[in-house]
Amino acid sequence: MSNKKRLFIRSWGCQMNVYDSGRMADLLAPLGYAPAEAPDGADMVILNTCHIREKATEKLFSELGRLRKLKEEKPGMMLAVAGCVAQAEGAEITARAPFVDIVMGPQSYHKLPEMVARISRSGGVAIETEFPVEEKFDHLPAEAAPQGVTGFLTIQEGCDKFCSFCVVPYTRGAEYSRPAAAILAEARRMAEQGTREITLLGQNVNAWHGDGAEGLAGLLRLLADIPGVERLRYTTSHPRDMDEALIAAHRDIPQVMPFLHLPVQSGSDRVLQAMNRGHTAEDYLRLVDRLRAARPDLALSTDIIAGHPGEREEDHQATLRLIEHVGFAQAFSFKYSPRPGTPAAAAAVAHVDEATKDRRLAEVQELLRAQQAHFNAGKAGTICDVLVTGPGRHAGQIAGRTPWLQPVHAFGSSTLVGRIIPVRIVAGHPNSLSGEIVEQEKDAA
Ligand code: 5AD
Ligand code: SF4
Repeated sequence: MSNKKRLFIRSWGCQMNVYDSGRMADLLAPLGYAPAEAPDGADMVILNTCHIREKATEKLFSELGRLRKLKEEKPGMMLAVAGCVAQAEGAEITARAPFVDIVMGPQSYHKLPEMVARISRSGGVAIETEFPVEEKFDHLPAEAAPQGVTGFLTIQEGCDKFCSFCVVPYTRGAEYSRPAAAILAEARRMAEQGTREITLLGQNVNAWHGDGAEGLAGLLRLLADIPGVERLRYTTSHPRDMDEALIAAHRDIPQVMPFLHLPVQSGSDRVLQAMNRGHTAEDYLRLVDRLRAARPDLALSTDIIAGHPGEREEDHQATLRLIEHVGFAQAFSFKYSPRPGTPAAAAAVAHVDEATKDRRLAEVQELLRAQQAHFNAGKAGTICDVLVTGPGRHAGQIAGRTPWLQPVHAFGSSTLVGRIIPVRIVAGHPNSLSGEIVEQEKDAA
């Protein structure tokens, strides 16, 4: 019988969680755990949870209910709950689901091997929900499984902004920036493993202020010098931390892609103030002008919340106007949902009723969808530099992405994976583009 143990990780929520799940797999690999496709028969199951929206806790408990049965069939199975729900509701999890072996917040993953060893030895439950974020990064393994042509790199965690609606400052803790040296070492390793496009991650990524570089702009400059790093992106940014140097980086560093996710949340000054965002609609529009002056082909993406407590019809109209004015290439929009412990959830002002929230969200989404379709259609007839990320859905096809993060499908050889090639776009669809590889590239392949 083989000693290989099977590890299944289910990840909800943000890209940071996807990155963390990868690092948890890296940490457990030396203990003999290899990734499994499904929880059935796994020796260890980790649920990496997200607390940001929706009914995260209920979703978790219904998933745990299903896993309990698997655990009964395989008593040695270890069950861990990680991520922001674990951080926020650790006590409730151990009380309501005593069959869970490990509850750990996002800053405790480096202790995972030790927790697993302790439980294998002596049983019991391990709970880690402290906030020693520096420690986490210091203890992550140097060995990491390759991520592929595109990869994530966490450079910053936590948030001190305390937007009224958001749980992140409570679940991920205070802002912490990793030092440049550690980030550069990880980026070099990723490039050596074949990653061509690196997306820097952080809840407040453009507030990065780690040792060894002058802000995020300085860090991007150092990253751009690494051989093999051909494209750089970063997400998520706060409008208040978009400084002159970072705007200039979009103009001056060719590796920095002309695409920026810049959440605005609302177009009404009254709501923005209630949200504690620290900027007005006008501030945001001026910022967009400066970014576009620096990089005329810059495409923007955003987050919008419909129905924040106290939002009136005129505020909603102001949001629609702001969206019209900017013209987004992509966006995420959400119906406001109260998160326990946040100021907005406890606000004395009237909460918007569900039907109104639904209607406002639908209006916001209709507009954003049309803008995205318009942006994609606008690429038809142009030639785009496409980073080939892998095989396409159909035989003989490749998939890739443009500088503006649009997925592209074209017929071509899989030997092109990892290269940036010119593709003539023949059609723009709502969520992707289809194209033809420019002829001389086909011959070269
Ligand atoms: N309700 C709705 N949307 C939310 N977001 C964060 N918290 C909430 C909430 N309580 C959205 C914001 C944020 C994105 C990641 O999730 O738009 O930018
Ligand atoms: Fe949450 Fe606001 Fe911080 Fe973003 S900036 S993580 S929305 S508190």
